[in-house]
Amino acid sequence: MLDNHIQVVEDSINQARNLKSLEELAEALMTNFFTRYPEAEACFQGFDLREVGPLKFCKISDALLDVLKNPDYSQSSVSEEVWRHQIHQVKDKEYYFALSDVFVETIKSTLGDAWSAVHEECWNDTLGGLKHNVTLAAKEHLAAC
Ligand code: HEM
Repeated sequence: MLDNHIQVVEDSINQARNLKSLEELAEALMTNFFTRYPEAEACFQGFDLREVGPLKFCKISDALLDVLKNPDYSQSSVSEEVWRHQIHQVKDKEYYFALSDVFVETIKSTLGDAWSAVHEECWNDTLGGLKHNVTLAAKEHLAAC
């Protein structure tokens, strides 16, 4: 990955964090995700979303940055997470795709007019990297994939 990608992606997350609180970003993330996949709410049964939502936002942010900064680590940590998440009944790679897509949409809508074609390109490459790692992990760990 190009250094420029890391800077563009990291700066855009920081910009979003300056424009909205972590709680607001997390609420937008989880609300949009559950609008797309209402059945996924069941995975969070027993968890307080006001508590785990902000954590989820940070974990996905870290996972996306790892794709750029630590590609080898990204592949093994995504594999571990996909394996570990079976305990939360996350058994389809589409949920990982959707949650990471919604993460980027949350950054995009928060940046508004400041979002540019460069953001679009760098984020698409980053998302592609994460989805590639999720696909490899799903083939390894999830029977349905
Ligand atoms: C790129 C996508 C994702 C990343 C990087 C990620 C990362 C993590 C991490 C690091 C944890 C804490 C440790 C653990 O239990 O493994 C966690 C917990 C959890 N994840 Fe994810 N996750 C992702 C996607 C998902 C999806 C798609 C769902 C559900 C549809 C989900 C549901 C949960 C739940 C219910 C927990 C337990 C509550 C919590 O500790 O937050 N995750 N996730």
